[in-house]
Amino acid sequence: MSTRSIRDLDLKGRRVFIRVDFNVPIKNGVIGDDTRIRESLPTIRYALDAGAKAVVLASHLGRPKGKPNPEMSLKPVAARLGELLGTPVAFAGECIGAEAEGAVQSAPPGGVVLLENLRFHPEEENNDPAFAKSLASLADLYVNDAFGAAHRAHASVEAIVRGVGGAAAGLLMEKELKYLGAALDTPDRPFVAILGGAKVSDKIDVIVNLIPRVDRLIIGGAMAYTFFKALGKPVGRSLVEADKVDEARDILARAKERGLQLLLPVDHVVAAKIEAGVPAETLDVDSPAIGERMGLDIGPKTVAAYATALRDAKTVVWNGPMGVFEIDAFAKGTIGVATAVAAVKGTTIVGGGDSIAAVHKAGIADRITHISTGGGASLEFLGGQKLPGVEVLPRA
Ligand code: 3PG
Repeated sequence: MSTRSIRDLDLKGRRVFIRVDFNVPIKNGVIGDDTRIRESLPTIRYALDAGAKAVVLASHLGRPKGKPNPEMSLKPVAARLGELLGTPVAFAGECIGAEAEGAVQSAPPGGVVLLENLRFHPEEENNDPAFAKSLASLADLYVNDAFGAAHRAHASVEAIVRGVGGAAAGLLMEKELKYLGAALDTPDRPFVAILGGAKVSDKIDVIVNLIPRVDRLIIGGAMAYTFFKALGKPVGRSLVEADKVDEARDILARAKERGLQLLLPVDHVVAAKIEAGVPAETLDVDSPAIGERMGLDIGPKTVAAYATALRDAKTVVWNGPMGVFEIDAFAKGTIGVATAVAAVKGTTIVGGGDSIAAVHKAGIADRITHISTGGGASLEFLGGQKLPGVEVLPRA
């Protein structure tokens, strides 16, 4: 059964509290990437068009450890949101108490208020019921549109639902659950998953959950080296998680048992250190010439093999880069895979900050069906875990 939707709520004349994920990169008050703000616009606009008396927005930003920190203030986000919405957004310098209440009370009809960073209070991360109640008291109805924070059992995500008159998922939350849920439960086939990134430990749950579901599993990034270690291949000084080698061996055995195509790199770009301008060489992964160097990207033969494995795919899920793509010399593999994903004639889903940055760097973001706003949340979801922020919402 699906989660109740904002479209099932009667918002007319009501104050609506919307938990958003405005955890965006900010440096010196300047927002680096406003994707998450843009992605929340449909839900905010929906509430305003439905006649909400006021929209109260709340989010965390960064990890201020329960204390106010001006560098993690949401104030710049209020300004940016106002520009995007084309209507002023009031900013409350506190998320609870008199200042928050005053800002909400004095909002004009159809006004939008953004509260200060929820994590300035330790009660947020402690899922504190009294704090949740104070937040809930600011509005009549609650909408959770913060997919990116749905894996956190925090007060504004979890406990708050017990203190509100009505609760539902926002449009972004619904969209995320629709795409990721369909990939897991009813994928068009062939279904291909691409997993990369530094650590296999971050992805083990996802791999184990995906093995019975996918037709092909593509592995790249530094996590491939833990598999190579398990296979007895030369790894030089590449990143290997020694305590995960047995698990990697077990994953290879499970994939074999299922008759699943598990693709690992066949060639790689190696260098002595992770630095722009260092001499690099492309080698087959069986070559002992890696010596004391480390693998920092997949090579061109691997890109070609992965592109072939993606060619007839009807569903693709991608999380994690194929190499150190921040450095141009080690970005070709990730860009190559991004280009192959963009060419897929089917549903393509990309999650995780690095892979999202890679699809932007490759200039193909507009050819991806769904770019998830959730990093950790999408991984937990794909790993088969229940998300507290979704579980607590009423069913449709
Ligand atoms: C994210 O960026 O993944 C979400 O906003 C959650 O942030 P967190 O990992 O600090 O809880």
